[in-house]
Amino acid sequence: MSQPSQSTPAALKHAGWGAQHPEPCTLVIFGASGDLTHRKLLPTLAHLDFQHPLPKATAIVGFARRPNTDEQFRKDALESVDKFSPADEEPLDEQAKQSFAARLFYHQADFNDAAGYKSLAELLDKLDHERGGKGNRIFYLATPPSAYTTIIAQLGAAGLNRQQREGAKGWSRVIIEKPFGRDLASAQGLNEEIGEIFREEQIYRIDHYLGKETVQNLMAFRFGNGIFEPLWNQKYVDHVQILVAESLGVGTRGGYYEEAGTIRDMVQNHMMQLLCLIGMEPPAAFDANSLRDEKVKLLRSIRPLNSQEVAARTVRAQYRAGQVDGTEIPDYRKEQGVAPNSMTDTYVALKLFIENWRWAGVPFYLRTGKALPKRSTEIVIFFKQAPYLLFAGEGEERAPNVLIVRVQPDEGIALQIGAKIPGPQMQLAPVALDFMYSQAFGAGTPEAYERLLVDCMLGDSTLFIRRDEVESAWTLIDSIVNGWNGSGRRSLPTYEAGTWGPREADELIERDNRQWWNP
Ligand code: BG6
Repeated sequence: MSQPSQSTPAALKHAGWGAQHPEPCTLVIFGASGDLTHRKLLPTLAHLDFQHPLPKATAIVGFARRPNTDEQFRKDALESVDKFSPADEEPLDEQAKQSFAARLFYHQADFNDAAGYKSLAELLDKLDHERGGKGNRIFYLATPPSAYTTIIAQLGAAGLNRQQREGAKGWSRVIIEKPFGRDLASAQGLNEEIGEIFREEQIYRIDHYLGKETVQNLMAFRFGNGIFEPLWNQKYVDHVQILVAESLGVGTRGGYYEEAGTIRDMVQNHMMQLLCLIGMEPPAAFDANSLRDEKVKLLRSIRPLNSQEVAARTVRAQYRAGQVDGTEIPDYRKEQGVAPNSMTDTYVALKLFIENWRWAGVPFYLRTGKALPKRSTEIVIFFKQAPYLLFAGEGEERAPNVLIVRVQPDEGIALQIGAKIPGPQMQLAPVALDFMYSQAFGAGTPEAYERLLVDCMLGDSTLFIRRDEVESAWTLIDSIVNGWNGSGRRSLPTYEAGTWGPREADELIERDNRQWWNP
């Protein structure tokens, strides 16, 4: 047996490419002038290239309607890299910036203009020819969802969906952003249309939460350690809480939010993924299908809610004006793009049950909202009390064993245990055994998008969402939304911005003699 290690070897601080190195490819970003491209994709690609240089022939083509030149696109891209790179990332030096900029090209066309895709195909061939590329392509749909099917159909018509083109080799993949549909029917329709053009192995449905190091660490924690899994079930777990709190309001995204609401924006995707990783059975192997099979099994074990269950086990609410950290947040209904009588949820709390042998009877309480007191994503597992209370001391009831997985910020995992307070009495107080990423591995975990872009380049879809997975999640969400729509309610509970949510949500958990765990 090997000795316990006492420190983190320096080599572990930044895991590199390892045995796998991506083949060169050309990444075409649709929606190249948009927010996602400039805030996330370009800064992430620039840092990736700086820290783990991409193959020389790899190129990035921005596709958008707006007239632009390669030079201007490069200039704008470098400005975005400066402006939006995370503060804890090492800044790019001048040489790195120039070598990244040299990979960038701009292609102007309308999304529905067939000629624009023909000229795109010519540009891609030309770039391959000049740069020594291998005909590999990734098409990233960073556009509003309304453009997805148009772009996909045009890619098909131009033959850009084919894995092997005439006279050329290479693969073709498509990355699709959320929201993927707005209910089960539309997600199925979208899947059908995309499925006509691309095979399932070519489709990478992204959920950026799966790219977060701490989210992947949930699997490492559960399946890479022998001591927790035996406790991970209804025999030892009292209940689980999943919190995704955001301190900002909807800001300039009111128009989008009116269509989505928190249930579609956060619960259908990010929260369901966290729930899957916490609750699923160990996969047979760490590969795309084994892992996603388990997630689908878990989603199918959550029975869609009927209208009484929706009334009893869900709360939706909207923020009123208030302050978060000294910043004024207006009433949601007064935000830009929001209807004055809007019924859109900016906060959702749910109590769900996973109906299988492992989790029967264990409530999973999910809570997410905008304009809450702080930004914090945490998964908290509450273990049952010891079977017999040996120390009748005051503090004991108040020191349950709780495992807190801090997904962000202050990434880490803490285990709360009861410890004896020094002194003549046998009195316990809760104390924490705490693991912090920044202490163990140094500051700065890689951006979620970085990992996902690399995985797509490597052809690994383990951290992307499969068709049946997205549809299973919608089945549950539809049942909740239908319950809400059928309730005949004309108003929503509200909460003041800067508070932890409406009274109704406190009542939801207090009815079970439990309380929300606020970070
Ligand atoms: C996005 C949602 O998917 O996730 C946003 O559309 C939300 O509304 C964001 O703010 C949260 O992501 P993160 O990584 O900041 O937790």
